[in-house]
Parts: sequence; C-alpha cells; structure tokens
Amino acid sequence: MFYSVIGTQWGDEGKGKIVDWLSSLADMVVRFQGGNNAGHTLKIEDKVYKLNLLPSGIIRNKKCIIGNGVVLDPWALIDEISKLNNEGILINNQNLYIAENICLILPIHKIIDEVNEIERGNENIGTTMRGIGPAYEDKVGRRAIRLCDIQNFDLLKNKLDKLHKFHQPRLEKYNKNIDVDIVYQDILSIGKHILKFASPVWKIINEAGEKKNIILFEGAQGSLLDIDFGTYPFVTSSNTSSGQVFAGTGFGIKDNHKVFGITKAYTTRVGSGPFPTELKDDIAIYLTEKGKEFGTVTKRKRRCGWFDASLVKQSLKISGVTDIVLTKLDVLDELDIIKICTGYKINGKNYDYLPFDEKLQEHIEPIYKSLDGWKQTTFGITKWESLPENAKKYILYIEKILEKKISIISTGPERSETIDRNNILGNI
Ligand code: GDP
Ligand code: IMO
Ligand code: MG
Repeated sequence: MFYSVIGTQWGDEGKGKIVDWLSSLADMVVRFQGGNNAGHTLKIEDKVYKLNLLPSGIIRNKKCIIGNGVVLDPWALIDEISKLNNEGILINNQNLYIAENICLILPIHKIIDEVNEIERGNENIGTTMRGIGPAYEDKVGRRAIRLCDIQNFDLLKNKLDKLHKFHQPRLEKYNKNIDVDIVYQDILSIGKHILKFASPVWKIINEAGEKKNIILFEGAQGSLLDIDFGTYPFVTSSNTSSGQVFAGTGFGIKDNHKVFGITKAYTTRVGSGPFPTELKDDIAIYLTEKGKEFGTVTKRKRRCGWFDASLVKQSLKISGVTDIVLTKLDVLDELDIIKICTGYKINGKNYDYLPFDEKLQEHIEPIYKSLDGWKQTTFGITKWESLPENAKKYILYIEKILEKKISIISTGPERSETIDRNNILGNI
C-alpha cells in the first residue's frame, strides 16, 4: 500500500504528526518536492523534533529517500544530520538515499533569493530565503548542478563557471561577488560527506513498490502554495499537489494509493499573498497564541483566519484526497462564534472556488456561515462521542461543504490526541 500526505492549505497544517504516525508503520518514507523551506514538527513522547529536509521517517530509522523533485542544499543537509546525530539518531547510507539527479541549492541561490525579494519591493513573496525558487529556476533553465556532477571534477567546474557567469551581471549591481573557485572547493569538500547517499532512487522505490512494501510520500508546504494551482505568484516553486509524487521520485505504480489531505480547522499563511478569510482582530491574536502559530523555519508570525471550505474543497479535488485529517480542532475551544467560508462574492458574482485572476482576487468577499462555539476543552479527546455537540456540528458542517467525510480529527500535537473515526491508522 502507498500513502501520500499532502497539505491542503498554505502549509503548516500539522503534516508532521500524521507523517510520523504513518511512518512508524511504513517501510520507506520519501520526500518528493520542496527543500529545506519545510518545517515539520514531530512530538514523540516528551521529545520534539523539527525536520526541514530529511524525511520524518529518519527518526524511526526507516529507509528514507530524498527524491529528484526536491532541491538539495548540501550544507543544510549535513547540518540537519549532525543535529540529529547529537540527539542519538544515526544517519548513514543504509537509511538515507538521495536521488543522484537531484539539483543542488548553492550559496548563489540564497543570494539570488534575497536580491529577488529586494527587487520585488512591496510585492515581495516573503520567501524562506533558503534559495529554493532560484534553484528550481536553474533546474528548468537547464543550468543546475546535480548531485552526480560532484564526482566529475571537470564537468562540475565547467558547469559552475557557466552558472556563475549567467548570474553574475545581476549580482554585481548589488556588490554580491562570489569567488567561484572557493565555491568549487566547498562543493568538493561537502561532496565527500554526501556522495555516499547518491543512488538511482527511482529504481529503489519501484523495487520496494513491486515487493508490496509500505511506502509513504511526505509532502511539504500545501496545495495553495503549489506553483500551478496555488495563489500564484505568492507560492513556492514546486508542485505540492499529489501529482508530483510520481514526477518527483520516478515511482510508477499508480494503484493502491491513499492520499491523506491534512487540513487545519482554521487557516494560516506565512509570507505574502491573498488570504480571503484572514482576520486582523482579537480572534487573530487568539489563534496565533493558542495555536502557537509561529513559523518553524523562519520563526515569523503566521497570519491567521477562518476555515476556508472553498479553498480546501479545491485542494481535495486537485490532489485526489481519499482521507481528510482535520487538525488543531482544540485551538478553537474558547471562541464564542466560529465562521466557515463557503464561497466568495466577487464584483457581485458568486464563486465556489478561487479564480486565478489576480485582479478578481483583489475584490474578493468571503461568504460565511456562523456557528456557535463549544466553549469547552476538546484537547486530547480520542472519541467522536466525547466531542461537545457544537464541535460535532462544526465538523459536520465542514463535511457538508466539502462533500466528504473527515476520517481523522487531531485534538493535540501528540499521537494519542487523535480521533481516528474509521480506525484507519489503527488498521494500517
Ligand atoms: P507541518 O509543516 O504541516 O508539519 O506543521 P508544523 O509542524 O509547521 O506546524 C504544526 C504545529 O501544530 C506543530 O507545532 C504541531 O506540534 C502542532 N499540532 C499538530 N496537530 C495539532 C493539534 O491537533 N492540536 C494542537 N494544539 N497542535 C497541533
Ligand atoms: P511546511 O512544509 C508554510 C512559503 C513561504 C513563502 C512561500 C515561498 O512546513 O508546510 P519559498 O522559500 O518556498 O520560495 O517561499 O512559501 N512556505 C511555507 N509556508 N509552510 C511551509 O512548509 C512553507 N514553505 C514555504 O513562507 O510565502
Ligand atoms: Mg511547517
């Protein structure tokens, strides 16, 4: 059986908790897009782990794969590995495999990320500054350095010279000069630590799939940050929807695949861009504080707002979600009234989806259904019957709009704080 975990909003939906749960049951855990812009929190008993680039299964010593759809910052990888080593988690070429054709994030990409944001001025995206976008640009520009290039010294030097020549005129304007020879030496040095992980991972994954191993594909970010389907241009630079599982790994088995859509019981967003249900009042402050809504990677305060059912419905369809996991229900516990966005009015016309046209998005008015809050704790509840009546009504109303039953409800950061309505996780 194969499982994908996808965020259905703007990221930080709580994918880490579910990925960790599924990964304890899986044989192999695979990242297929994004890079170290991701920040996934796993709470295992008293320990909290925060992962950026490594698949979450590494904590449980599962076979972990970083697929070709990811962009790899070698220095960030080695940092993350050594931090985990210090916590007693050992990573070697028996539990970590990296696609040999993966494209690298180099120091120049972080500088370009910064310059791009400066040039965007007021319309900046608010990227994580990890060089993700510029690395993907070089990938599609057919200039990128791939992991397998590191072992071919002449080829590497040649490609590196060309890459720097391509970018240098723009960077000179900002006095950002890079010494290519130093970068070349640095890549060779880091190469000694990472080349041992390089593998034809498409082959390894397909073999595991054919042997009926349980494979978990761990998504980063969320559908609304997808380069094609998100709130472009305020998106990340990869496809975050489930279709990318295949292109980002070379896995070719299309059946027996469950897609978990991780969905927060309200909405958050880090960085700029449209957010129809955003709140700027006391409720926003309440959600930020109670939900601890601060970015894992950049520590920025996340913008908070009401649950947007039209956006989530869109994401469920695009990723072919088979099971919805509703997270952080407990964060809503103290609210008097809770609103759900069921669609939009734009220039007098009703929409049940978010149109891509940026000009239309500027005039968006959410249409809300207001429900009474439950005003009691749901933290740690594990049974549907134990939920307050108004919490049940809230969930049932969301299901009605989404036209899909919610399979799992998360009522706290820990695994035990979960309502598994159909015993899905217990049965895997
Ligand atoms: P990810 O990027 O989707 O993996 O999510 P993050 O780790 O960036 O942010 C989710 C945060 O919510 C983490 O701090 C989790 O420990 C926490 N969390 C996950 N599920 C729940 C829940 O049901 N209730 C509460 N209160 N916190 C949760
Ligand atoms: P996880 O996996 C939330 C956002 C950034 C910015 C935009 C582009 O933890 O859900 P980038 O550096 O990717 O070019 O920035 O995307 N972003 C995320 N927001 N969670 C994430 O990951 C994110 N990864 C990128 O804030 O708005
Ligand atoms: Mg996160």
